[in-house]
Amino acid sequence: MTFCVGVTGGIGSGKSRAAALFGELGADVVDTDDISHELTAAGGSAMPAIAAAFGPAAVAADSSLDRTVMRRLVFENPDARKQLETILHPLIRDRARSRVMASPAPYVLLVVPLLLETGAYRGLVQRVLVVDCDESLQITRAMQRSNLSPDAVRAIMAAQLPRQQRLAGADDVIRNDGDIAQLRGQVADLHHQYLRLAASAATSRGK
Ligand SMILES: Nc1ncnc2c1ncn2[C@@H]1O[C@H](COP(=O)(O)OP(=O)(O)O)[C@@H](O)[C@H]1O
Ligand SMILES: [Mg+2]
Repeated sequence: MTFCVGVTGGIGSGKSRAAALFGELGADVVDTDDISHELTAAGGSAMPAIAAAFGPAAVAADSSLDRTVMRRLVFENPDARKQLETILHPLIRDRARSRVMASPAPYVLLVVPLLLETGAYRGLVQRVLVVDCDESLQITRAMQRSNLSPDAVRAIMAAQLPRQQRLAGADDVIRNDGDIAQLRGQVADLHHQYLRLAASAATSRGK
């Protein structure tokens, strides 16, 4: 089995940015947000079930998921959210698992925003890396990347684990309060550690 590090952290903490830096060093990156987008793009594997469950209003003119409509629907209706998650989550997990298993890289980083909240990936990851930064910085960064309001970012944060609980679930922590050079330095150190761990896991399996 491929050595797999689960990466999590609050919205805007820098998961995707950190994962991209690991990728530059030779790790394979599997991002569950990207998989979710693929599944709900035009022709995506989740679209038939979504159209059947939510009707034509949920499908945009180009046959992809109408994200504006769906965001409003799940915001107003917890049952709709549950129904959407019931369709998407198993598909995301299956695709993530096959990508991790098929990876030829020395190790894989699996980015899962709700890794510790769901527990669904526990059997797939050997190690948990939490990307952490100050909450005010999280809000600034999340807003600068998307067009979310501060209140919308806070609402997403409220649905995620409190910072201290997330940190308690970490094997490794990246403190992303500094600049990109500081992030890069921490990524490089962890990359070497993961290469060693992956090599010794392979040896102990007799590979
Ligand atoms: N150390 C940093 N310095 C400056 N900008 C950063 C840093 N880390 C992340 N960012 C930027 O902050 C935004 C949020 O980071 P991102 O990796 O997308 O967060 P996440 O994937 O955790 O939601 C992005 O625009 C990213 O480029
Ligand atoms: Mg991200």
